[in-house]
Amino acid sequence: MIEVRCPAKINWTLRITGRRADGYHDLETVFQTISLHDTLRIVPSARTTLHCDDPDVPRDESNLILRAAAALQAPPAEFRLVKRIPVQGGLGGGSSNAASALMALDQLFELRTPPARMAEIALRLGSDVPFFLTGGTAYATGRGESLVSLASMAGIPLAVVVADERVSTRAAFAEIRHYSEPIGREAAQRALGERPELLINDFEQSVFALHPNLQGYREKLLASGAWWAGMSGSGSTIVGAFRDAGERDRAVNGFQNVRCLRAETT
Ligand code: C5P
Repeated sequence: MIEVRCPAKINWTLRITGRRADGYHDLETVFQTISLHDTLRIVPSARTTLHCDDPDVPRDESNLILRAAAALQAPPAEFRLVKRIPVQGGLGGGSSNAASALMALDQLFELRTPPARMAEIALRLGSDVPFFLTGGTAYATGRGESLVSLASMAGIPLAVVVADERVSTRAAFAEIRHYSEPIGREAAQRALGERPELLINDFEQSVFALHPNLQGYREKLLASGAWWAGMSGSGSTIVGAFRDAGERDRAVNGFQNVRCLRAETT
């Protein structure tokens, strides 16, 4: 038996830098794992089953955990997922489940999958999956699979506004009309420390136009003292970063009509 945590991620910044021949888009982003997490328990079994406490999670073979198990050709197992990361919120929950399943199955069944093969399977499962094989703070380009770890940003208090609005990633990409110039890894690293105004998300313009509430949440976080606030991925989750936990807690208490969670970077 093995039990693992599947952390959520946020994007400190996300520039869409072009459209590719394969239909995907090139990005420049800084991924960050956070303390909010699902828990996945895997027990070897005569046949493969998946149980989850969240009815929004697909239970059929489209589930990324089952796809990860199939890709690894792992022996059958019972999967139990305790879901805490909101589905379709831009927090990478499904991608994190997939990466954790790959690593946990490899360990449980002593598969000794070479790292390059793990990375290749991860990218096949989804553009954000390779990041979750390592987590932390990482600068990413390509579809998100070309990764360089940055200096740790662990321990920053966050307010995570989980909006009711749902955004499809595919639809959000389809709305993008112009592309940004990448700023480069060193500038991204500097921006995290001293130039938060360079930490932008290219999805915000079109997603905020469709869901003005989300822009309101971002403004409210900044007005509550956040040194940075932005949308995660293609949304709809809006996150604010604070200098200390007390300031963050006061900001969280200010949100009454929408779910707002406490978390921290890891
Ligand atoms: O890779 P993933 O399955 O997470 O992507 C979901 C959808 O988002 C893709 O089918 C594609 O339409 C879009 N996408 C993209 N460029 C990326 C990542 C995702 O166009 N880098």
